[in-house]
Amino acid sequence: MRYLLLTLTLALATLLAGCDQGPTFTEAEPGEHLSAGEGTVTKTDQNAFSLPLANLPPSRRLDFSVGNSFFRNPWVIAPASTDARDGLGPLFNTNACQNCHIKDGRGHPPAADAKQAVSMLVRLSVPAAADDDLTRSGLVPEPNYGGQFQDAAIPGVEPEGRVRVTYEFETVTFADGHQVELRKPRLDFSNLAYGDMHPATLFSARIAPPVIGLGFLEAIPEADLLAYADPDDEDGDGISGRANRVWDRAAGATAMGRFGWKAGQPSLRQQNAEAFANDMGLNSHLVPTDSCAPSQADCLAMPNGGEVEVSDSIMDSVLFYTRNLAVPARRNVD
Ligand code: HEC
Repeated sequence: MRYLLLTLTLALATLLAGCDQGPTFTEAEPGEHLSAGEGTVTKTDQNAFSLPLANLPPSRRLDFSVGNSFFRNPWVIAPASTDARDGLGPLFNTNACQNCHIKDGRGHPPAADAKQAVSMLVRLSVPAAADDDLTRSGLVPEPNYGGQFQDAAIPGVEPEGRVRVTYEFETVTFADGHQVELRKPRLDFSNLAYGDMHPATLFSARIAPPVIGLGFLEAIPEADLLAYADPDDEDGDGISGRANRVWDRAAGATAMGRFGWKAGQPSLRQQNAEAFANDMGLNSHLVPTDSCAPSQADCLAMPNGGEVEVSDSIMDSVLFYTRNLAVPARRNVD
């Protein structure tokens, strides 16, 4: 018995010694609080997520502010006296990026009595048939409502309906007797204005994520992401990742998915253009369609806010803004 214990202790000691090379996480590494290196900001008030990178040259601060204004200020219905910001809808979720990405941070599910979901949106799809080519779309949209449920619309067009979240509560007991209460969201759709939904519709509710530090994530080379993916857990650490391949509109080819909760968009430019089109009904050269599904005649008949509603120069400003939002320093790293 004593022999066995000794061998075990020796084995354990060897194991621990082996760990010496890797990080121990017992104390902070030098500079660990600087989440964005020299770009880290140190403000901790309610605007902590809305600042440009600390090392952004003064000459580019104006570009950041211009991008910020298109992210924060509401867009209006076309035609309007303000030509730069019109074309909202016909169908949309809300009229400004910032309404969902609240102060450049995350959104939240709607309260029980909310009229609209605003900072949560719901993606819709139906199961693919064997001969559907999903290379470009990734998903088959619901036939009457399209790929995203829009609960707001301009006058003269019916919103698609209303979505509410209710919760089922469940108590879970851990092995040591500790109990926690978990809640499971349930989506309820009402006032559906464009007919029934396909009986096999799949729903994916998504809260707006924070938008800080995204330029850093976009700058990681694809090869590095692939090197860490380890889809079959060959290194045996219990963690396996899979790279998502998605359609890159500008390249006309598939590319690494990087943005969104499920890495559904390949670049910040495309992510932003899809947000303009699907969340706000604003088209651009990259995403030339509005938010109308093919069967929504009133929606399709409404006037546009110009040949493209979001010009290339506005897209460039918003891209610059989303690439250069700073990350606040980590607190209490020790
Ligand atoms: C209706 C709410 C809503 C609006 C309006 C909205 N977003 Fe989003 N945004 C989301 C949600 C939800 C996601 C996650 C999407 C997913 O998982 O596919 C997201 C994701 C993003 C991301 C990727 C973040 C990440 O960590 O991967 C960026 C960048 C972004 N949005 C920019 C914008 C811009 C620019 C606008 C305005 C043109 C905008 N959003 C408008 C809800 C919204």
